[in-house]
Amino acid sequence: MDFKKLIINEINSDCIGAEELNTLLVENTDKEMGDYALPCFKLAKQLRKSPVAIAEDICSSTATDGFIKEVRAVNGYVNFFIDDKKLCEDVIDEVASEGEDYGRSNQGKGKTVCVEYSSVNIAKPFHIGHLGTTAIGSALYKIYDFLGYNMVGINHLGDWGTQFGRMIVAYKLWGNKDEVDREGVKALAKYYTRFHVEVENHTELADEAREWFKRIEQGDAEATALFNYFKEITLKDVGEVYDRLNVKFDSWLGESFYSDKIPAVLEDLRAKHLTKISDGAELVDLSDYNMPPCLIVKQDGATLYATRDIAAAHYRKETYNFFKLLYVVAYQQNLHFKQFFKVLELEGCDWVKDMVHVSYGMVSLADGAMSTRKGNVVWLVDVLDKAVEKAKSIIDEKNPSLPDKDEVAEAVGVGAVIFSAVSNARIKDIVFSFDRVLSFDGETSPYLQYTHARCCSLFEKAQTAYDGITPDYSSVNNASAKELAIAINSFPAVIDDAAQKYEPCIISKYLIDVAQLFNRFYMDNRIITENAAQTKARLQLVKCTKIVLSNGLKLLGICPVEKM
Ligand code: ARG
Repeated sequence: MDFKKLIINEINSDCIGAEELNTLLVENTDKEMGDYALPCFKLAKQLRKSPVAIAEDICSSTATDGFIKEVRAVNGYVNFFIDDKKLCEDVIDEVASEGEDYGRSNQGKGKTVCVEYSSVNIAKPFHIGHLGTTAIGSALYKIYDFLGYNMVGINHLGDWGTQFGRMIVAYKLWGNKDEVDREGVKALAKYYTRFHVEVENHTELADEAREWFKRIEQGDAEATALFNYFKEITLKDVGEVYDRLNVKFDSWLGESFYSDKIPAVLEDLRAKHLTKISDGAELVDLSDYNMPPCLIVKQDGATLYATRDIAAAHYRKETYNFFKLLYVVAYQQNLHFKQFFKVLELEGCDWVKDMVHVSYGMVSLADGAMSTRKGNVVWLVDVLDKAVEKAKSIIDEKNPSLPDKDEVAEAVGVGAVIFSAVSNARIKDIVFSFDRVLSFDGETSPYLQYTHARCCSLFEKAQTAYDGITPDYSSVNNASAKELAIAINSFPAVIDDAAQKYEPCIISKYLIDVAQLFNRFYMDNRIITENAAQTKARLQLVKCTKIVLSNGLKLLGICPVEKM
């Protein structure tokens, strides 16, 4: 419901247009003065009247028998008081009837949004550094999907590069299939680390690695089989983590896919005289734009990360004709994105304006035991396991008789890890602390899940006793109920805002507000009383809170539990 629109509809003015009213009308922070105010000063010149007189005119022509309960003209302002009962009634009825679809829209109909996120590397750790891209990207995917866009989630796999030559040498020397089948990528990463230690004293290993990489490029059977094996192991491991995080992709085309699309890119860049040769390498000079050159082909003829990104952008435009293409990638790569976006612009691809680098900050761990400082990578799966284990021990302590404890612990632990990545402005670096993210009070996901579960348990208590009762909304007519209803009403606008700014944290922060308002409402009002019509009205507000928390948590990829 758009309150501003409703107020404007009630103002029967012939001289002021709806659009003008819409820009002037503001929400009051101090609701004692009225819910909304219309300052009339800017209208004085055009209407040739004093602001005081204009305010009085508007005041007397506004209808007060519907949505607006009272209008006051005060010193050139018109103050509008919304009828609380009507407000609660309208909001609650609308939200309760839309249920799981509340907040959904079809604004994106016919438009395709590609979101590239997670983009893990084959045979390399899926580590805490990938949490941001995975959680933020997946949330943006779900948000745009909810707004009706056609979605393409892309995992731009890191499956190309000379490191795979080293990986093969390492595997052949120290690898063991049983170990890999047991430990997965962790075993592969171990061999790879050993390669880097041993190559210090055995430089011939580097030559062998180059040889093997060449064989991969040439499609040699053994090299290809090994590479495919590494890929299979990696995808199996990361797939388990994605399942736990509620993350899905529609495309897994990695960097190697673009190898045969690069010649066409080079041809176009050369035909447009965009490249030049410098020290045997080919590059696009970007000094006019205050950037270092974008390297396209190395001295040895190999193409680069940027070249593959340019080819991938062309491919995606041709394949999906995207309305938007979002790259959720850490800010360490800001320059890289600026550079290849500029190259595309110079090429004349006007659609580069629809590409956005959604950059985000670093996640580090406060907990010393899993610190990256000792040179150990922090595997995301270990962070999840530890969070779940801690959630389990909190549940064991607080609510030992809870049914399905393991499932709840999984939802709470994993949810807390996701929330840590989607609850702050993207660009901020965050220090992750298990104790903080798992706390039941404070701005955490367990607090949201707990509030959701509290709503569910009220319904369980009420059972079906109030099914046929007509709610009496005059009984939810108090400050905390009204504020909660207003907050619930703004959910669709919040989703919109989060989508436009590519900021899932707008939803997280909003959900925290809703939960806090709900808990205040719950303290102020007994929900189940002897008065059935009153109980029904309050239960309806509980239902709407539950709907918003559940829909919102799902957009973030967090499971809203019913019991906790
Ligand atoms: N795989 C890369 C990494 O882990 C990230 C890829 C980012 N995406 C891109 N289109 N360049 O650093």
